[in-house]
Amino acid sequence: MSAPQPRLVAALDLGSTKVVGVIGEVTGDARTVGVKILGVGIERSTGVRRGVVRDIEETTRAIAKALKDAQLMAGLEVGTVYCGLAGEHVAGRSSHGVVSVTGNEIRTGDVARVNDVASNVTFGRDHELLHAIPQDYLIDQQAGITDPIGMTGSRLEAEVYLVTVLTSALANLRKCVERAGYRVGEFVLEPLAASLAVLSPDERDLGCALIELGGGSTNLSIFHAGKIRHTASLMFSGAHLTNDIVHGLQVTQQEAERIKERFGAVYEPMVGDDELFELPGAPGQMGRSAQRRVLAHIMHMRMQEIFELAADEISRAGFLQRLSGGVILTGGGALAPGMTELAREVFALPVRIGRPSEGIGGLADTVETPRLAVAAGLMLYGARQVVVSGGFGASSRRSPAVEKVFGPVKRWLQDFF
Ligand SMILES: Nc1ncnc2c1ncn2[C@@H]1O[C@H](COP(=O)(O)OP(=O)(O)OP(=O)(O)O)[C@@H](O)[C@H]1O
Ligand SMILES: [Mg+2]
Repeated sequence: MSAPQPRLVAALDLGSTKVVGVIGEVTGDARTVGVKILGVGIERSTGVRRGVVRDIEETTRAIAKALKDAQLMAGLEVGTVYCGLAGEHVAGRSSHGVVSVTGNEIRTGDVARVNDVASNVTFGRDHELLHAIPQDYLIDQQAGITDPIGMTGSRLEAEVYLVTVLTSALANLRKCVERAGYRVGEFVLEPLAASLAVLSPDERDLGCALIELGGGSTNLSIFHAGKIRHTASLMFSGAHLTNDIVHGLQVTQQEAERIKERFGAVYEPMVGDDELFELPGAPGQMGRSAQRRVLAHIMHMRMQEIFELAADEISRAGFLQRLSGGVILTGGGALAPGMTELAREVFALPVRIGRPSEGIGGLADTVETPRLAVAAGLMLYGARQVVVSGGFGASSRRSPAVEKVFGPVKRWLQDFF
């Protein structure tokens, strides 16, 4: 294999059903940053459940395989990866900070200070800060300022969205990556990553909900006026749909999964009464046929419940009437026929499937599926970090000196969401 190139990025999405490794090259400059996909590896895995490692060996194996496949396809080797993170142990909340401005004009240092004050809250012993995303600044109590640098004022306030995670969950994910022979450059909240790959600037401004329909978890995040405002993990996911099929059609877990992907639909009116499919028979017995409408009914019921939970969460967060950008669906579940139809009915909003494409070149078709929105978004995140703040390229090693300079500042520099 050839030597690593300077502007490479690599990403790792550790899902409940699969591990995805992607390798690419950063393209463009700060304004037009993108990524050229060079290699993708997808490996089935059950080692992680809802963002928490439950089998270190299995997860390590899947990471090694996915990244090896991606490296083979790319003809390159990588060392450092941007790694996705999600699950119920992740919490988001807004925080407020105030400082007095030192000179007669607001400088970078003042902004850094106010962001630090806003981020300086206690998270509890077991949790740590993952992201601090500045949302709004106020100068002398005037709100709605996105970039205060260079403005005049004496009192500077910041609203910052803080994302905290369970320290041990992070440590176990990191352990698996390291045992597989790689390093984590940075952990990135999955919905934030996915948002970079599938949301348009208009949707983000007008207000939209991004719903990631994964195998083990369903994540909801709300964007409004350009920024993330809320994130939550819902109780049910693709695994529950599979379980309902197991019970409803008396088949095994594996068969249910196959039937769901092959014959499933989540909007019952789409399926005719006369449509039949073959159910696998017990050994030595003939297969039986089943009505596809029954399968659709089972999936429709559960999926409707999931969307209703999402609508409740949106309403509790106070955004029900403020999402004219609509609902964008990602994750493997978004591949089920009828998903947009059902979501339109429940939310009474425009709905579309989020397929990564903007800013992505090279083998773009390999990631152009809602199932790889997180992986593609991690690549875009990494590319921006490399271009904007000199973040980790895929081959770089973190030096202690760089750590010292970037460590405290970098966390809130991530204001490009
Ligand atoms: N055509 C399809 N119809 C219905 N469901 C599908 C289809 N294709 C995939 N799925 C479902 O998508 C889910 C997997 O999605 P995804 O790969 O996004 O999850 P994951 O990233 O592994 O898990 P998570 O993010 O929840 O930890 C599974 O439940 C699978 O059954
Ligand atoms: Mg996932």
